[in-house]
Amino acid sequence: MSRIEELKSMVDLQNGRIDRRIFWEDWIYQLELEKLFAKSWLFVAHESQVKNTGDFVTTYMGQDNVIVSRHKDGNIHVFTNSCTHRGNRICFADRGQARQFTCNYHGWAFGTDGALLGMHEETHYEGYINKAEHGLQNARVETYKGLVFACFDDEAPRLEDFLGDFRWYLDVILDQTEEGTEFIGGCIKNMYNANWKFGAENFVGDSLHVGWTHASGTRAVSKGGEVPEYMPVDPESFHANANGHGWEGGTDGVGTLALISSGDPTLVEYFENERKNMAKRLGELRARKLYGSVISATVFPNFSFLPGINTMRTWLPKGPRQFELRAWTMVNKSMPDHIREIVQNACVMTFSPSGIFEMDDGENWENATQANEGVVTRKQSLHYGLRSGTSRRDDPELPGNISKPMYSDVNQLAFYQRWMDYLSADSWDDIPKFR
Ligand code: FES
Ligand code: FE
Repeated sequence: MSRIEELKSMVDLQNGRIDRRIFWEDWIYQLELEKLFAKSWLFVAHESQVKNTGDFVTTYMGQDNVIVSRHKDGNIHVFTNSCTHRGNRICFADRGQARQFTCNYHGWAFGTDGALLGMHEETHYEGYINKAEHGLQNARVETYKGLVFACFDDEAPRLEDFLGDFRWYLDVILDQTEEGTEFIGGCIKNMYNANWKFGAENFVGDSLHVGWTHASGTRAVSKGGEVPEYMPVDPESFHANANGHGWEGGTDGVGTLALISSGDPTLVEYFENERKNMAKRLGELRARKLYGSVISATVFPNFSFLPGINTMRTWLPKGPRQFELRAWTMVNKSMPDHIREIVQNACVMTFSPSGIFEMDDGENWENATQANEGVVTRKQSLHYGLRSGTSRRDDPELPGNISKPMYSDVNQLAFYQRWMDYLSADSWDDIPKFR
């Protein structure tokens, strides 16, 4: 059996069964790097992080470290952070301002667009190098309403198509106001000894774990009030997925997580006003059904967020058994300072290394990754069949594939379908159409 056939036998989406080996086998991880992370659009920054010429941040696309930088032509460039001379890392900062990037080893210098600028040319290199051939490798770059995505594959569809129907949902957090959004504060980093897919699949639609995993934290923030073991099923809630991206939404209110984290009445007022403004902009349906929803979302493959407190996060793979979580707080540019502070504090209190919810999840994902590797354990497949087959494309109100109400594996199944599409494809023709 070829590796691809073996891989296909591991994910039985019809019956909702997944082989545990996908969470730790090294050859599968290598396939992910080559066929998924090197081919897919990946979130790399928010435009507000690279506002001015020379602003840069560094991040990872798969395990390739990249520099995201605003060049003097006004464009954002994304290129590999590895010198084309001996491969040394060029930039060691997470973010900053630079006119050029100069390598520590022999002093080769690169522009903020990745072009090779010079290297003692006149004295040593005259006649030995064509600089145009040795610039840093640029990725394609496209933005969607403030979010910057990059892709190393020239044949990949445009970002707009890659996001497809999911843009309708993304607009709820990116396009509430005319002024748009921005990241505030710094980046919160956090290492997990777990497979990156556990973060992505949890945020793609796993409300099932919330009341149970986060029970003690929820009790703490509810100040001793009655908290059910499972959140009651919200009949208005739904799972939406498109192209592997998934959103789990409900009607439970205005930034619920931020509210329970602060109890500040000015926050309630702010969110209620914003909801009215957004209704004018994006329509009543989205304002009623999606705004402030406490449930979560993932942009395939590894960019997730919680609408409400607006923690935006990437699950950066560091091998099959480890990932780095990088998280930011996003707010509307028009948000008043004291509300920003409340939202940012809510993020830190809930989803950060010291937050009351973050470690609950991390512990589960680390234990699942480790336990799945047992030589006997690994032979038994995992159940992903909750409400499988209930996802439909013909909802009169909501675009994408929809399943109602909450508590289902449909978005996880759609995520792993797309994952399998990428890993098993020889070319873009093999990947089912984006829509
Ligand atoms: Fe960068 Fe030599 S490795 S200049
Ligand atoms: Fe959680």
